[in-house]
Amino acid sequence: MHRFAGKRVAVVMGGLSAEREVSLNTGANVYKALLAEKWDVVAIDWKPDTSLAKLLEEQQVAVVWNALHGTWGEDGAVQGLCACLQIACTGSGILASALAMDKVMSKRIFEASGVPTPKWRLLSHTGPADASDAVAALADLSLPFVVKPANEGSSVGVSIVEDRSQLVAAVQLARANHGQVIAEDYIAGTEIFVGILDGRVLGSVEVRPTTKFYDYEAKYKRTDTKYLIPPEVSRDIVERAEHHALAAYNALGCSGHARPDLRISPTGEAFVLEVNTLPGMTATSLLPKIAKSIGMSYASLCEAILESAS
Ligand SMILES: Nc1ncnc2c1ncn2[C@@H]1O[C@H](COP(=O)(O)OP(=O)(O)O)[C@@H](O)[C@H]1O
Ligand SMILES: [Mg+2]
Repeated sequence: MHRFAGKRVAVVMGGLSAEREVSLNTGANVYKALLAEKWDVVAIDWKPDTSLAKLLEEQQVAVVWNALHGTWGEDGAVQGLCACLQIACTGSGILASALAMDKVMSKRIFEASGVPTPKWRLLSHTGPADASDAVAALADLSLPFVVKPANEGSSVGVSIVEDRSQLVAAVQLARANHGQVIAEDYIAGTEIFVGILDGRVLGSVEVRPTTKFYDYEAKYKRTDTKYLIPPEVSRDIVERAEHHALAAYNALGCSGHARPDLRISPTGEAFVLEVNTLPGMTATSLLPKIAKSIGMSYASLCEAILESAS
């Protein structure tokens, strides 16, 4: 029997982050699937200027199916609120969520745990308007490299610097997000995302954008991004990538579902970029596609994620 059988489930969606629209899409799909499976489920659209605590208490919720993305949803804040209200919540806990959301902390933990991640430098979140501090700090980092905000998602603020003349604009763009900024080696080659559930690898997808990298357009707007399940790279490489993806998930202390992002170099080396602890669950999202490839329906995936709530 399901751990939460007979209990009221709230699918919490929307939220206050820049990824509100994607979250509404994830939430609507999860809600529909749980309803069809006869769950006592309510949909909660958390809007600005409303109290999520009040909404959860009014609905007498026993467990939250967290369909939020980004700040105040993916970063440990809602996980903490649920802990205080003694309501179970899907996905990773407070600490793992916060660590995974912060690329600086994630990379420090990857390095300390032997998880390969691209070589990197930390830049402060402020600096002179001409970014001359970054020009000096990155003078010996070989081209090309990537500049990105430490606390964003959806490829917002990410630039590939191929020529030093592009550096100032890249740093200014990343700093516009008002958090720390990192620069890291650009890993040419392919991109692989690994689907994980309860400490078990479900499978992987190779992502082939037609844009220069997997940017916001390729993620949400374009229809020509290719997703290959299983990946076309050799089985050896996929196994190595999955091994490192799981090591990254464990190093951060993740639980439930997650989707690490990796780059595979032309020589077959796998590097972990980050771990997404609340991956998209829209009808076209990657984790449901990976689950489907091993015979797991969208509804079963939603229920398995619910089962892992803590
Ligand atoms: N070091 C890197 N080498 C090559 N491409 C990268 C690198 N870092 C980021 N990218 C590209 O930018 C995208 C977004 O970067 P990522 O670190 O996953 O941040 P986000 O949290 O915005 O998804 C990646 O999916 C990849 O296409
Ligand atoms: Mg990513």
